[in-house]
Amino acid sequence: MDITKIFKNNQEWVQKRLNLEPEYFSNLAKGQTPDILYIGCSDSRVTAEELMGAAPGEVFVLRNIANMVPNTDLSAMSVINYAVMHLKVNHIVVCGHYYCGGVQAAMKSADLGILNPWLRNIRDVYRTHQDELNGIADEELRYKRLVELNVEEQCINVIKTAEVQKARKERNLMVHGWVFDVHTGELIDLKIDFVKLLDKIMAIYHLD
Ligand code: CO
Repeated sequence: MDITKIFKNNQEWVQKRLNLEPEYFSNLAKGQTPDILYIGCSDSRVTAEELMGAAPGEVFVLRNIANMVPNTDLSAMSVINYAVMHLKVNHIVVCGHYYCGGVQAAMKSADLGILNPWLRNIRDVYRTHQDELNGIADEELRYKRLVELNVEEQCINVIKTAEVQKARKERNLMVHGWVFDVHTGELIDLKIDFVKLLDKIMAIYHLD
């Protein structure tokens, strides 16, 4: 992409928006009331708003390598806190994607420097589910399954936070696990059974 063309694109976009709705930007400037927090991968092929058909103002977004929610990551924890406590979102989505380079790197034996501690979080997911994963002979299927299990584990990390537990009680905030299939463009709901999951983990993680 030609970097100098970006500002021209931007001007065209502004004009297109204003032609459709003259008050568009003055309305946007009034503030945001998104209903969804989307946590996805930084992968350039996996957009946040575009694949959901969402407009500016509708989705609060966090993207990082392999859509992670590490327990001590200040960025993820701050985004969750702000989205739940201040923006009052009613849905949190963790969206992974098949053929995720971050997940693939965590399945390989390689010293990747500063990426090591980040990818270790995915290796922990593998270890937690190693019986199931090692039982999948086909490497591509095992890779895809790790993508799904990683989404599930990151949803669990979301539920571990005090903000989310409080919001679940107060307004039934929902957590969703999705996967985007880069090969088809399709968004898949993993339909994670959170009631069952909560029963299983809340005995350990409940905060009040
Ligand atoms: Co990825």
